[in-house]
Amino acid sequence: MSIIDLKGIYTAYEGGDKPVINDLSLRVERGEYVVVGGPNSAGKTTLLESINGLVRITHGSAIVCGLDLQSNADEVRRKVGYVIQNFYFDPFTPFTVEQVVMMGRFGRLGLLNRPKNDDYDAAEKAIRLVGIEDLAHKTIGTLSGGQQQKVMIAHNIAKEPEVLMLDEPFSNLDFHAREYLQCIFRDIVRSGTPILMVAHAFDGLPEIRIHLIVMNRGRISLDAFCEASEVESIIRTECVW
Ligand SMILES: Nc1ncnc2c1ncn2[C@@H]1O[C@H](COP(=O)(O)OP(=O)(O)O)[C@@H](O)[C@H]1O
Ligand SMILES: [Mg+2]
Repeated sequence: MSIIDLKGIYTAYEGGDKPVINDLSLRVERGEYVVVGGPNSAGKTTLLESINGLVRITHGSAIVCGLDLQSNADEVRRKVGYVIQNFYFDPFTPFTVEQVVMMGRFGRLGLLNRPKNDDYDAAEKAIRLVGIEDLAHKTIGTLSGGQQQKVMIAHNIAKEPEVLMLDEPFSNLDFHAREYLQCIFRDIVRSGTPILMVAHAFDGLPEIRIHLIVMNRGRISLDAFCEASEVESIIRTECVW
C-alpha cells in the first residue's frame, strides 16, 4: 500500500475561482525521499496542504496513510508530520522549546492525558537528534528563524509520523546545519518513513535515490527517480520560469 496515493486531484482555496492544483496524481511509497521542485506559485505548498487535509480537494481521490483523506482529515493530520513554510512565533509566546517539541506528541496523547514515559523519551530523543539541547529551556519566540525551524523539525520527529513533509525547511539555515539535517532525514528514510520535501537548494542532499517531482502551474510536469547529484540540473531544465 502506498503511503500517499493521489489520483486526479483538483484543489481550490475558498473563494478561489479556479483550481490551484489540476488533475494531479502522485504515489509515495515507504522509504522514499521525495524532492518537490518548481518555480514560485507552482502549487508546491498547496500540494502539501492538500495532502494534510488543509485545502479542499474538489475532485479525484486521495488516500493518505491508508485513509480516505476527504472523510478522515483529522486522523490523517495526526499521522502526517508537516513543517510549514512560513511560521512566526510572537516573541512573548509562553512555551519553551521542550514544550513545543512535546506538543508533537499531543495527537497520540489526546488533549486531556498527561505525557507518559514514552512521550518524554520521544521528545528528548528528537531534541538530541536535531542538536538543540542547549535551547530546551528557552522560550520559542526568543529564538532566531533558523533555530525555530530546527525546533519545528524536532516537534515533527517527536510525533513519529508515517510520512514527514517539509516545506523549504532550510531557508534560514547555513550549509553546515543543512548537511547535518540531511543526514537525519536520510536515516529517517532508511528506517522506512518517507520524506516529502519542497526545496530550492539541493547541496547536501544525501547520496540516496531521489524520487523527484517537478511542479509547474499546478501540475506535475516530471515524476522520476534520479541520483541526488542530478536533482539540481533536472529541476533547472524542467522549470517553466
Ligand atoms: N490561501 C490562499 N488563497 C488563495 N490562493 C492561494 C492561497 N495560497 C496560495 N494561493 C495561490 O495558489 C497558487 C500556488 O501557491 P503555492 O502553493 O503557495 O505555490 P508555491 O509553494 O509553489 O510557491 C498561487 O497562485 C497562489 O497565489
Ligand atoms: Mg511554497
